[in-house]
Parts: sequence; structure tokens; C-alpha cells
Amino acid sequence: MIGKDLKTAIKLLNEGKLVAIPTETVYGLAGNALDENAVSEIFRVKNRPTFDPLIVHTDNLEKVQNLVSDFPEMALALARHFWAGALTLLLPRKPIIPDLVTNGSPLVAIRIPNHSMTLELLKNLDFPLAAPSANPFGYISPTTAMHVEKQLGNKISYILDGGACQLGLESTIIGFENDAPIIYRKGGISVEVIEKIIGKVQIKEHSVSDPQAPGMLKSHYAPRIPLVVGEIESLMAEHTHKKIGILSFQKYFEQLPANQQFALSENGDFSEAARHLFSAMRALDEQDLDIILAELLPEKDLGRAINDRLRRAAARE
Ligand code: TXA
Ligand code: MG
Repeated sequence: MIGKDLKTAIKLLNEGKLVAIPTETVYGLAGNALDENAVSEIFRVKNRPTFDPLIVHTDNLEKVQNLVSDFPEMALALARHFWAGALTLLLPRKPIIPDLVTNGSPLVAIRIPNHSMTLELLKNLDFPLAAPSANPFGYISPTTAMHVEKQLGNKISYILDGGACQLGLESTIIGFENDAPIIYRKGGISVEVIEKIIGKVQIKEHSVSDPQAPGMLKSHYAPRIPLVVGEIESLMAEHTHKKIGILSFQKYFEQLPANQQFALSENGDFSEAARHLFSAMRALDEQDLDIILAELLPEKDLGRAINDRLRRAAARE
């Protein structure tokens, strides 16, 4: 059921049940992060392999301190600057975090999401919430309550409706190796903005399927029908006999019916493009098409994270 009732969500979560929650990035599938049963239910409902660990969400820094055994200076600077917001930090966990949440890793992924309804929810719980994106494993992340309802509605008791996600891209994940910051997943806060706060940051490019590098599975965020990236006009020439859909940055193409194409931002605005990316991909995927042709954005600002999602959507193993 979809609704806006915090009391219902609080009650269900206290009973160990799962609730889909809105965040500024994408919708999450949430359960008590300290309850092994609730956490294993998350993996089951998403059909997610347990080697892909979960992000833990809470609503303030003091609560984070109770979950981590160390909070290095640079991580704290990032937290102070970007929380609540689209930044996830990998930090040494305290034993209170179940093994299942981190796949046995000594590090736990933590963030404070920036959504008033979910912050209010977290404030009223005496445990943090483990929440992966609320989509079946490998599929496109949901940015509205209706997206969640369509795919997981029959498997979860409640979907808290907080409107369409403001950012539309998952959080940026940062960890540290020998005190040096590393971006493990490009996301809603751009590399440029992060580098303004802490200087040069290394970026880890994803591997095809390396369980040693969770969160970096290449094939991900994928529609059901094939998606290819490249220059739209030459792709159209290559795929003349197919029923195609187009995902462009700014332009519409006269050769094709309007409903078979989406321009992510006619004005070339990266934030708007990010906000529209997943819902446009879904809308195309729901039509009776053979293939989606997508073009990459300029490789800067949020364009980098958007391109990362497009390339992963195109990757088929
Ligand atoms: O914006 C977001 O981050 C959304 C919202 C709901 O907060 N959540 C999200 O979760 O994108 P998910 O599970 O779809 O992606 C989390 C990624 C995973 O790919 C996972 O492998 C990585 O974070 N991750 C989680 N815990 C980790 C850990 N302990 N070490 C390394 N990577 C971790
Ligand atoms: Mg996900």
C-alpha cells in the first residue's frame, strides 16, 4: 500500500517489517539495520545476492558515532559539509552492525538522507535503517512511490510516499585507503564539488563482477530491453529495422514519434537530466520497443554519474 502515514511506517519497522522510504536520491527498501531477520528479508525481497552489502541510514551525527568505531578527520569534514545529503561514507563498524549488512566487511556504508519525511521517520526510531534502492536487483532504481509499487508492491507492507526524488541519482560513495579518499560510486554529489572540500580524490572504476569490490558490479541499473550508448544518429542508421527508443541529453529527433524519445534536459541542465534519467529509462522500457539508443553527456559534474549509469545499463554479461 502507498501512503503518507509515518505512524504506520514506524509501527511496521518496529515489528521488523520492511517499508519503502523516500530519499532525495532514490527510494529505499528499509528495515531495521540491527535486526538480522529484517536485513535478510531485504535481500530476499530484492532478490539481491548477500555479497552486495547495504547502506545504513540514520538522522544525526551522534547516532552515526554509535555505529562506527572510528571517524577520521577527513570523513568528518565531508559528513559535516554534505549531510544530510547524497554522500555515503565507508567507515569502520562497531559490532552492533550485523555481519549480513556489510557482508562481513569491517567497514559499514552510512549516510544521512536529505528528505524531511524520512528524517522525521528516523528520528522516531531507536535503530538505524538498512536500505538499498527499492528495485529488484539489477533493475533501474525507483524515483517515485509508483515505481516501487509496480515492482515490489506485492512483497512489502507499506510504501511511504514522499513525492518524486529531488536528485534522482544514488549517493556518491566514498571510502578511504591509507587515509586517502576514494570514490567507489559516482553519484548525486559530483566529484568537482567534493574536491572543493577535500582536494584531489581518486576514482575507482567499476569492475565487471568482483565480489571483492561490492557496489561495483558493472551490469546494473539496467532496463529489460537492450540499451546501447553512442552517437544517436549513427546508432539510428545501424538499427533501421528495429523499433527504437531514444534517450538523449537535449534534442528530439523528427524521424521518430514523440512518445518513443526522451530528452533529459532541453536546456542542458545536469541536475534536471539526473532527476529525469531513471524515470525516462523506465518509461521507454515499458513500451514495446526492441532497443534503446542513449547518448552520453559531457563527462563533467553530474554528467559523470549519469554516464556511469548509462554505461552500466548498457553492460550485459
Ligand atoms: O542513494 C543511495 O545510496 C540509495 C538510497 C536508498 O540511500 N541507496 C542505494 O543503495 O543506492 P544500493 O544498495 O542500491 O547501493 C549501495 C551500494 C551497493 O552497491 C553496495 O555494494 C555498496 O553501496 N556498499 C554498501 N555497503 C558497503 C560496504 N560495507 N563496503 C563497500 N560497499 C558497500
Ligand atoms: Mg541499487
